[in-house]
Amino acid sequence: MINSKELLLHAQKNGYAVPAFNCHNLETIQVIVETANELRSPVIIAGTPGTFDYAGRDYIQSIVETAAKKYNIPIVLHLDHHTKIEDIEASLKLGTKSVMIDASHHSYDENIAIVKKVVELAHKFDATVEAELGILGGQEDDLVVNEKDSKYTNPQQAVDFVKKTGIDSLAVAIGTAHGLYKEDPKLDFERLKEIRSLVTIPLVLHGASGVPEEAVKKAISLGITKVNIATELKIPFSHKLREYLVTHPEENDPRKYMKDAKKAMAEVVKEKILMCMSQNRY
Ligand code: 13P
Repeated sequence: MINSKELLLHAQKNGYAVPAFNCHNLETIQVIVETANELRSPVIIAGTPGTFDYAGRDYIQSIVETAAKKYNIPIVLHLDHHTKIEDIEASLKLGTKSVMIDASHHSYDENIAIVKKVVELAHKFDATVEAELGILGGQEDDLVVNEKDSKYTNPQQAVDFVKKTGIDSLAVAIGTAHGLYKEDPKLDFERLKEIRSLVTIPLVLHGASGVPEEAVKKAISLGITKVNIATELKIPFSHKLREYLVTHPEENDPRKYMKDAKKAMAEVVKEKILMCMSQNRY
C-alpha cells in the first residue's frame, strides 16, 4: 500500500485534484476502483470510523490491498475523520498509509498537541497525515455541527499549525459542509488564495457533495489537491436499490439487486473524477 504524499504532490504540480471517495463495503470499493481504473485516475478510498466499525478494519484493508494489486493505478486507503489514536494505530499496524486525524473540535493548542502525536506515530509507519483547521458544518458519521458552530480556517494560524504539527496535508474550512446543502454554498475563494500563498503543503476540500462543479474547479485552480466526496455517492446507490427492490419484490439475490445501484453510483464517481480533472494521469 502507498501513502498519499506523491499523489497529492503530483496533483498540486499539475493542477488537478485527487478524488477521495468514502466507501462502506465491498460493493462501494469495487465501484470506486473499477471506475477510477477505466478513467486512469488516481484514487483515494476513505473510511470513517463508522465504516470501519461496520465493515471491520481488516476486511476493508484486505479489499483495498487486493484492488491495489489488481489495477495499475495508484490506490490509497485513507482514514477519514479519525479521532482515536488507538483506531489509527490499529490501521497503521494493518498497513494503512494515509491518515486524517480530526482534532478540529478541540482548542487550538489541543488540536496541535493531538495532531503532533499522530504525525510522530504515523511517520514511523511511512504514513502521511492530514489534519483540519477550522470547523466544517454538517454531518459526518454521527457528528453533527450546526452552522453557527462552524469556523473558517484562519490563514495566519494555518502557517503556525502546519509548522508546529508537521502534517503532510491540510483540510481547510472555506464554506463547505458535510452532507447536502439547502442552497448552493458560497466558497471563500479569497481565503483559500491567502492560505495557498502562505502554506506550501497540499490542501484538502471536505464536503464536496452538492458543491457546483465550477466552484470545485475554481477551488482546484486555487490550490485544492484532494476533494472529499461521500453523500453524493450514497444517494444514487440507495435510490436505485430501493427502486429495484420495490419493482422486483420477489428478488432476494444481492448479486442481482445491487447491480443497478452499483451502476448508478459509478456514474457519479465518473462525474466527480472528471470534475477533479484526475482522468488519464496514469
Ligand atoms: P460530503 O458527504 O459532503 O461529500 O463530505 C465528504 C467528506 O468531506 C468526507 O470527509
